[in-house]
Parts: sequence; C-alpha cells; structure tokens
Amino acid sequence: MAANPTKVLLDVDTGVDDALALLFAVAHPAIDLVGVSCVAGNAALPQVIQNTLRVLDAAGCPAVPVAGGAHRPLLNPSRDASHVHGADGLGGIVLPETSRETYRIDGAAVGAIEMMRRVLMVSDGPVTIVALAPQTNLALLLRAHPEVAEKIERVLFMGGSASVGNATAVAEFNVWHDPEAAAIVLDSGVPTFMYGLDVFNRVAVPLQKAVELQSSGRAAERLAGELISHRMGVGAGREPVYTGLIGDAGALCALVDPGALRTALLPVYVELAGSTRGQTVVDRRVFPGEDSMHGLRGTAGLTEVALEVDADRYVDLFLGTIATLA
Ligand code: RIB
Ligand code: CA
Repeated sequence: MAANPTKVLLDVDTGVDDALALLFAVAHPAIDLVGVSCVAGNAALPQVIQNTLRVLDAAGCPAVPVAGGAHRPLLNPSRDASHVHGADGLGGIVLPETSRETYRIDGAAVGAIEMMRRVLMVSDGPVTIVALAPQTNLALLLRAHPEVAEKIERVLFMGGSASVGNATAVAEFNVWHDPEAAAIVLDSGVPTFMYGLDVFNRVAVPLQKAVELQSSGRAAERLAGELISHRMGVGAGREPVYTGLIGDAGALCALVDPGALRTALLPVYVELAGSTRGQTVVDRRVFPGEDSMHGLRGTAGLTEVALEVDADRYVDLFLGTIATLA
C-alpha cells in the first residue's frame, strides 16, 4: 500500500463493471478500502450483496466491512439493468461460493447506513466516498446522520452526463434509478466530483486484449477478461454488443490519476419531473441567462465534472493494476 493511501468507502450495485472496480480498488496501492456498501440497482439487493462478497474473495481482499442498504430507491420502484448485466448481475459469470459475511457487531448483522456511519465516525482521517450505484444509501446516510458530512472528503460518483444518457436519451442509469437521492447528495454541501457518461463511455479495452486476459495465468485477470468481454444486451432480437468498457473502474482511475481528465467546476442539478426525469443538467454557460435574471434558477451547487479523458491512459492504468492481483 502507498505511503498515504486514500481511505475509500465504495458504494456498489455489483454489477459487471462494479466488479471491475472492486478488483481495481483491492489492487491499487493508493486506495485503502475501508468499507463496501451495497444498494439495489443493476440487480436486486440480495444478489448485489452476494456478487460483491464473491468478487472481493476473487480479488483476495482482506477483511473489510460489507453491508446491504436500500432495497429500492427513495421514491421510484426498483428497475434493474438485467438487460446489461444479466439476471444475476454478473453476466452469468459464476464465482465460487464464499464464506465471507456481511458486517456484524456482537454477532448481529448491521445495515449499510449504520456501517457507513461507524466507518466514517471512527476514521482517523477524512474518507472519500466513491459511489458507483444509485445514491440511495448516501442520501439516507446524510439525512439520518448529517454529522458524518464533516468526515467525508468528497463524494466521487459515477453518474450523470453533461451530454448523452443511457437509461433514457438524457439520463444516466445511477441518477435515473434514484433522482431524488442524487439531488440530495448534490445539494448536501459535501464536495462532489462527477465521473459521468462523457468519460465513462470512452474508456474501453480492445477486444483482443480482453480475449488475451481470459487466458491469463492469474485468476483475477481471467475474471477481469470475462467481465470486460460480457456483451451488453441491446434489445430483443438484436445481437448483444462488445463494448470493452471498464465502466465504474474508471471512476477509481479518476481517483488515483486525475491528471488524465479535463474537468470543470460547474453548477449541476437533477431534473425530478417530466420526460427528462433523472437528467443531470450541467450548466456550461459562460454568462448567466434569463433564468438568473428573472429569479427562475435554482440554487444548484457546484460540482467538479469530468468532461474529457485520456482513455488509453486509464486502460493502461486499469490493466496494469489488475495485473498485480493473484
Ligand atoms: O450508467 C452506468 C452505471 O449504472 C454503472 O455504475 C453501472 O454499474 C450501473 O450501475
Ligand atoms: Ca454500478
């Protein structure tokens, strides 16, 4: 581990690309993984928890608190992403059963909100929350325990978009799944960093490299190759497509190597109504508009938004980091 690693609390909905992020988080020396909270998103919560425990085993992760949180969004019904991640959330990749358990205190199971509170409050330094899923757990945590805000360095979240959507034409899945939760986090006063689709969609491993990984002598590399090679469903009757995206793992690349990004500090708010519900509105105007002049503009907080990425640099960083796992 590096001399002064960043304490990271990961919030996941494992998920093919959450699994890639978990492998990276365990492997990279600049990351001190202090907790993993699970939330419904790509798959139902019990499946997400099981997937997360098994991937942590596959990564050879030392003991770390893992806990399940919200079973569904604050208001929305749960709408999974099985067409992308498969019914089991891991693209049908079967990992060995695990004896790893979720977080317990005196033998009693503890939920994610309490686990996150404890981890943050006992930490001897600020913790970065890296949110790779719908932000339901984070919203509940901040509403139930506002005192934790001062212990949070920042929330670096994979979510949103300053341009194209994926869940809808304009909304990204994590924010679309629970827009109210994302709005609560953005308005919480905790510093936020948005790793959205503008960069998420750029960082892809070439198919040939993914194929090579699957014949690696290292089990974790083989697993990474299988996960990257999982083809995303694109609708009935159409062939699933290879994207090669490292997805959520890119958000952790942004944590350890921010120099590969072009970012800007911009007002960001979440649309909560109408056909654009779940859209992150990223205000890139140079001059204020009529909405400001006529008092129509909300009080959107400023968020550091990743706008461009040196994609090859993150592909190399990801592959080089995964290669250090057994
Ligand atoms: O839009 C992509 C995000 O939604 C990723 O975090 C993926 O795992 C899903 O949660
Ligand atoms: Ca995710």
